[in-house]
Amino acid sequence: MRMFGKAGKAAAVAAIAALALTACGRTDSGSTSGSSSGGEAFPKGSSIGVALPQKTSENWVLAEKLFNDGLTSAGFKPDVQFANGGVSEQQNQISAMVTKGDKVIIVGAIDGAQLGTQLKQAKDAGATIIAYDRLLLNTANVDYYVAYDNFKVGVLQGQALLDGLKTKKASGPYNIELFAGSPDDANAKVFFDGAMSILQPKIDDGTLKVVSGQKSFEQAVTQGWKAENAQKRMDTLLAGTYTSASLDGVLSPNDTLARAILTSVKAAGKPLPIVTGQDSEVESVKSILAGEQYSTINKDTRKLVEHAITMAKDLQAGKQLEINDTKSYNNGVKTVPAYLLPPVIVTKDNVKTAYVDDPVLGPLTK
Ligand code: BGC
Repeated sequence: MRMFGKAGKAAAVAAIAALALTACGRTDSGSTSGSSSGGEAFPKGSSIGVALPQKTSENWVLAEKLFNDGLTSAGFKPDVQFANGGVSEQQNQISAMVTKGDKVIIVGAIDGAQLGTQLKQAKDAGATIIAYDRLLLNTANVDYYVAYDNFKVGVLQGQALLDGLKTKKASGPYNIELFAGSPDDANAKVFFDGAMSILQPKIDDGTLKVVSGQKSFEQAVTQGWKAENAQKRMDTLLAGTYTSASLDGVLSPNDTLARAILTSVKAAGKPLPIVTGQDSEVESVKSILAGEQYSTINKDTRKLVEHAITMAKDLQAGKQLEINDTKSYNNGVKTVPAYLLPPVIVTKDNVKTAYVDDPVLGPLTK
């Protein structure tokens, strides 16, 4: 089994009622069949903790409001916290959620490997832990994972880069550079691996040339998902490697970094390369419409939050949780049962139809 590997295709609903019931700290001898006949696991009006990371992209900002509204209308008390101050702030927030008695704690980690102590406290107190968007690493104390299929995101990015390059000139070789996300975010490596599953064979056969030679994840990372770090690295690459060579394409793991890369290229007065992205941020969707950024990924935050809240509701009702992947996300200690949603690639070709249901992006792309 590949660690953090590609999601299995079968969308089987796993019978993991026993796990769910243990996870939410039930002590009665209710049914383990997964039906709701076992009764409520905890009171309806309970407090549900949501620990969000730093606001490194619009999806996190959106999630805050969606969790507050969605948990409230589901009858829960939302306890939603952002950790803009960093890892220790997030650790303290989770400890406070435990003290408060939150029954479910949903975690979008800054650093998925640094919360082991707090997650253990939470489990010992009888809470159920759901990793949200980013996996929690090296701990047995995570019950479920809900996310868009991260490996697939990378595959779509790699394919978009290749397709975009072909629109520039019919055949290679093409000069490209590779950017990855923040190494403390478990998603960053999965996105990169997904993209490289498409790009590596084309590097090997000479279609693609990474002119800087910086091909490894470690060389490509962008600390903290910060735009200024990507912009600085792109400035350095342009000044060092592309004084005479042309830059045809850049693998960017998300929209914030894509726009930073494009800013750097513009400042250097070079022609714009094909640049990928992710998140469907407003400015990037505008950039796609304007023919600058080549692609983004639609990972509708509303659907992800909705599923996380459905999980909390099912836990409360003592019901079996809907899971569609039980093999891809090994966190170093256990394979975490996951519910993965499908990401969608967006380019100029489908940008006018991709967001019809989106209240912000729909009107923007009409
Ligand atoms: C999310 C991406 C986001 C990135 C930076 C990742 O964990 O999956 O959607 O672009 O964090 O915020």
